[in-house]
Amino acid sequence: MILVTGGVGFIGANFVKAWLRVQGEPVVCLDKLTYASNPLSLAAEEKDPNYAFVRADIGDRQAVRALLARHHPRAIVHFAAESHVDRSIDSPGEFIKTNIEGTFNLIDEARGYWEKLVGEEKAAFRFLHVSTDEVYGSLTAEAPAFTETTPYAPNSPYAASKAGSDHIVRAWHHTFGLPVLTTHCSNNYGPLQFPEKLIPLVILNALAGKTLPVYGDGRNVRDWLHVEDHCTALRTVLAGGRPGAVYNIGGNCERANIEVVEAICAAMDELRPDAAHRPHRSLIRFVGDRPGHDRRYAIDATLIKRDLGWQPAHRFDAALRSTVEWYLANPQWVASITTGAYLQWIEQQYGGSTR
Ligand code: NAD
Ligand code: TYD
Repeated sequence: MILVTGGVGFIGANFVKAWLRVQGEPVVCLDKLTYASNPLSLAAEEKDPNYAFVRADIGDRQAVRALLARHHPRAIVHFAAESHVDRSIDSPGEFIKTNIEGTFNLIDEARGYWEKLVGEEKAAFRFLHVSTDEVYGSLTAEAPAFTETTPYAPNSPYAASKAGSDHIVRAWHHTFGLPVLTTHCSNNYGPLQFPEKLIPLVILNALAGKTLPVYGDGRNVRDWLHVEDHCTALRTVLAGGRPGAVYNIGGNCERANIEVVEAICAAMDELRPDAAHRPHRSLIRFVGDRPGHDRRYAIDATLIKRDLGWQPAHRFDAALRSTVEWYLANPQWVASITTGAYLQWIEQQYGGSTR
C-alpha cells in the first residue's frame, strides 16, 4: 500500500481516485483537513475497502510514526502543503510551518521507518515529493523553459517554502540514502480545485454574475496541465523514476491569464446562453497586481518524456471546457467548499477590489 499526504486537496484527491481506479492498490490518506480540503471530494472512496483516512498534521511526528508502523506503506507520495501564493503573501507563517517544518518531520520519520526495512522492501521504498515549477522563479518572454538544472530563484513566500522543502528532500537522499523522487509541475487545472485559484474562481464568479478579477495587465503566462495528466506523470515517476532524480512535468501549454479568462467566458456563454450577464467577458475587471507577481512560467518536460515515456493526453481547449462543465454540474461540491472560511478570504482579498 501507499501513503498519500494532502490527499483531500485538489491534486491529492484526483491522485487517490485515479490510483484506486488504475492501480487498485490500497492507499492511506493523511490530511490535516485545512480550509483547502473538501471531504466530499473522496466521499465515494470512503466506501472502498482499499481506502483509509487519517486526520493528522504532517508536523505531528507521533501521528506520522504511528501511521507508518500501522500501515507499512511501500511508498509515500507527499502532496500536503499550503499552496496559494496570495495567502502566502498575506500570512507566510503557515507556509514555513507546513511546507518546510512539516516536510522535515515527515521525511525524517520516513527515514526512520525506511532504515528499519530490509532486503527487497528497503530497496523498493520510495518517497515522492510533489513540488512546483515556481521554485525556479520567473521567465522573461524569450527565455527558454525551466529544465531540471535551472537554478532556484523562488520569488513568493510560497515558492520559497517549497524550495526549502525541496532542499530538505534532496539532502535526505544525499546524506542518508533515502530513495527520494522530486517532481516540479506547472499550474494544474481540472475538477476539485479550491476556488481561490484562477480557473475555478473565474468559473464560479462568472456563474454568479460577479466581476472577474485579472491581476495587472493580464499578460502573465502560466503553463497549464490537466490534473489527470499530472497524476499519470506521478504514477510514472513512482514506478520508474531513478532515486534521487528530479523530473519537470508540464503541459507545453503556455497561456496569458487574460486568454484563459476569455476562454472560460466563451465556454460560459455557450453553456449558460440565458445568463443575464452574457457576454460573460463584460464581467472582466483589471485589478491591482499581486506583489512580486511572476511574469512567466514554462516547463521543459523533455527528460520525463525521454526517460519515462510520459506525455500529456489532454488538450487545453477541450479540457478547460469540460472543467467548466464539471463546476456547473457539481453545485453540492461547490456549496460545501464555499463556506465561512472561503467567503472571509474572498472578502479580504477582493472586497475593496483593487488591492
Ligand atoms: P491544495 O491546497 O488543494 O491541497 C493541500 C492539501 O494538503 C489539503 O487537503 C490540506 O488539508 C492538506 N494539508 C495542508 N497542510 C497540511 C498539514 N500540515 N498536514 C497534513 N495535511 C495538510 O493543494 P494542491 O493544489 O492539491 O497541491 C498539492 C501539492 O502539489 C502541493 O505540494 C503543491 O505545492 C503542489 N503543486 C500544485 C500545483 C497546482 O497547480 N495546484 C502545481 C504544482 C505543484
Ligand atoms: P493562481 O491560480 O493563484 O496560481 P499561481 O499564482 O500559483 O500561478 O494564479 C494563476 C495566475 O492568475 C497568476 O498569474 C495570478 C493570476 N490571478 C488573477 O489574475 N486573478 C485572480 O483572482 C487570481 C486568483 C489569480
